[in-house]
Amino acid sequence: MNIRTLNRYFLFAILLSILFSCAGQEELKIEPARYPIIPKPQKLVEQPGVFRINDSTALNIDMNNPELAELAEYVHQQFGVPTGFPFTENNKAEQNVLVLRLDSRIKGKEGSYLLKVEPDKITIAASTARGLFYGLQTLRQLLPYAIESRDLVENVNWEVPCVEIEDEPRFVYRGMHLDVGRHFFPVSFIKKYIDLLALQKMNYFHWHLTEDQGWRIEIKKYPKLTRVGAYRKQTLNTHGAEKPFIFDGQPYGGFYTQDQIREVVEYARKRFVTIVPEIEMPGHSSAALAAYPELGCTGGPYKVQERWGIFKDVYCAGNEKTFQFLEDVLSEVVELFPGKYIHIGGDECPKDSWKACPKCQARIKAEGLKDEHELQSYFIQRIEKFLLTKNRYIIGWDEILEGGLAPQATVMSWRGIKGGVAAAKQHHDVIMTPGTHCYFDHYQNDPAVEPLAIGGFTPLQKVYFYEPVPAELNEQEAKYILGAQGNVWTEYMPTGHHVEYMAFPRACALAEVVWTAKGHKNWFDFLSRLQGYYKHLYALGVNYFRGNRGDLIKLNKEWQ
Ligand code: ACM
Ligand code: ZN
Repeated sequence: MNIRTLNRYFLFAILLSILFSCAGQEELKIEPARYPIIPKPQKLVEQPGVFRINDSTALNIDMNNPELAELAEYVHQQFGVPTGFPFTENNKAEQNVLVLRLDSRIKGKEGSYLLKVEPDKITIAASTARGLFYGLQTLRQLLPYAIESRDLVENVNWEVPCVEIEDEPRFVYRGMHLDVGRHFFPVSFIKKYIDLLALQKMNYFHWHLTEDQGWRIEIKKYPKLTRVGAYRKQTLNTHGAEKPFIFDGQPYGGFYTQDQIREVVEYARKRFVTIVPEIEMPGHSSAALAAYPELGCTGGPYKVQERWGIFKDVYCAGNEKTFQFLEDVLSEVVELFPGKYIHIGGDECPKDSWKACPKCQARIKAEGLKDEHELQSYFIQRIEKFLLTKNRYIIGWDEILEGGLAPQATVMSWRGIKGGVAAAKQHHDVIMTPGTHCYFDHYQNDPAVEPLAIGGFTPLQKVYFYEPVPAELNEQEAKYILGAQGNVWTEYMPTGHHVEYMAFPRACALAEVVWTAKGHKNWFDFLSRLQGYYKHLYALGVNYFRGNRGDLIKLNKEWQ
């Protein structure tokens, strides 16, 4: 090869490497955003300059309105503590001021707000206190991450970049779930989780309170539910679908007292998060049966389960005592939780014990039911009827479609989307939680380098590109899709620390799915905002997953 040819090769190689590095950079170099807001606001107009919060920044808010007085208290806690600034209330203040103003002219869905940051004034306006709270969450994200400290932080420039934002949610149901049955998490963690939902404008926390492996809510009328049902002898240390099983030999348990539940409900209310409590029936009820074996078809004995899976011991649908028990339990539950919805489970209920039970078979005959699926439907409809007398509406997993839907039920579509499609076509409300995109107990990275999880593969990008409205629905049917929810089943998450690792940042991606208009989302823009958001998570002590490498963030058609 002569020198000229060599030169040509050389040039070609350089050209190629420049081309490749440019292409690579365009996709993969993620710069932190000036406005690191998650979920992305519907409309954001960048403005030059900053507002600097200082000792004399006033708070202009109508303290005669109790809802606003509560927001003022929130401002003093969230913004006053770390800055050390008093945010003195002053209704006349027009400069160096944070204005929080109710304005009925501001249209849009629940939680809409305007945020205007000018060099001498920050204005948040909304037609509801919820909207103002969401405006404050946006402001929180625009401030330095030290705003998350619960102690005074000195020597910080408390600057907010100027901006004009008009924002409203796409969906009315923006949820996250947590299973406290498989593992139990203290009240402090539940509050932290709720605060993280509020930070990203999610408005429902689905609290999965009863399971085969533990009953976690105090019920005064049935003390054995927690005395017996909240504790198991030991816990599986290996995968639930692999043999041999190895157990840890350690007793395990815990539950929330009714006082603790009231405290959490109040904490959530102040953050505009509604709690949906779940009391599972007729399946996933081993812990309740261990406490009250007369409620099962065989009379037991039953045990609080020590491994993961689906168990054949379920409430007897032929025994009136079962319904008396559940009505008593639900009566206490509705006193504790003021929200419209009660989740009654309904999933994964094997029919073996009903098939062999004379009482269940007698019920099928007496009610003219076709089979055990219709018996399950009878069960759920009877519970729905009871809850409607308390002005509460049921949510159930998509198995409640089998044997006929209860008339007012909302369906959570988890075995893919077909349950959601079927329910919407029957004009029932739907919350989408398909395992493929919304189960944050699935792996988010190569299992070879991850802690044990149940299975699956749901990387951040797959969650981000999730579209909650199934293509099978027409415009009218699509209106029944209330939103979506991320589910966190905790078989393989023994600590809150691990829950955070599995839930974040996937929950951040989902927050954008349910808030931001479909055509307005942008993956790389999301990643760039995430850079700033991570700092807030870190400052909040959140053990979020750090492993989103280049191959996981590069646009991948397979995950869209
Ligand atoms: C479920 O994941 N069993 C609803
Ligand atoms: Zn029975």
